[in-house]
Amino acid sequence: MSAHKDTSPKKVTVRSLLTRKQSGEKIVCLTAYDASFAQLIDAAGVDVVLVGDSLGMVVQGLETTLPVTVDEMLYHSQLVHRGVKHALLVVDMPFLSYTTVASALENAGRFMKAGAEMVKLEGGADQAGIVSALVNNGIPVCAHLGLQPQRVHKIGGYRVQGREASAAEHMLHEARVLQEAGADLMVLECVPAALAKKISKELTIPVIGIGAGKDCDGQVLVLYDILGASPGRQPKFAQNFLQGAGSVAAAIDAYAEAVRSGHFPSAEQSFN
Ligand code: KIV
Repeated sequence: MSAHKDTSPKKVTVRSLLTRKQSGEKIVCLTAYDASFAQLIDAAGVDVVLVGDSLGMVVQGLETTLPVTVDEMLYHSQLVHRGVKHALLVVDMPFLSYTTVASALENAGRFMKAGAEMVKLEGGADQAGIVSALVNNGIPVCAHLGLQPQRVHKIGGYRVQGREASAAEHMLHEARVLQEAGADLMVLECVPAALAKKISKELTIPVIGIGAGKDCDGQVLVLYDILGASPGRQPKFAQNFLQGAGSVAAAIDAYAEAVRSGHFPSAEQSFN
């Protein structure tokens, strides 16, 4: 028997994320779109790597995420999968790839076969049937409430969601319905900090914020935003961690540490 103690980080799973929420340890999540960055992110001990359809904007230079296709997401998922050993790999279902149970199962199935361990989809209570169909077929789901970039034209721009009392109540209701439908994780994007805190407290599944204040169970950012590589469109809720870090690996470490210690996000990076 080896006398060496195994100090390598353990594989992150749906169960370990739940334990993390229960123990109050923050969950660190970051997007990745290729193998090299995925490897750096994984080595930094980031818990969840998301192949976001944000790749349409930051990699492809598009105005919105709407034109991103299943084949493009599949290609980037395959690249990222090669770089990830420990983190949970989540893949975004792109626009109109989950309008029916059949199409959701078909497309999510392709992502899972490419190495995804969970799929993320935008939408509220209207998506409950799709979420249960996926979950009942062994596909873990991350729901996404608040600002849903795939609905940017319906919403009328990239704006904070849930500010009015009725909208806040509605979002809380949708969060409950999605959890009830079987979602294992939830992203809240651009949501007032107090509402995100309330939802995070009420749900038993982990809630990951982006522009949703410090009281979520974890945080996610777009990789390019933490590296200051989104010239002219760095969101208010993001921070350039490369500044003063000296290397990409150090910037990713600094982001992970800032999330774990509760130093990110600050009030300046949150909404009321
Ligand atoms: O597409 C994406 O990268 C996302 C995150 C910003 C949550 O959905």
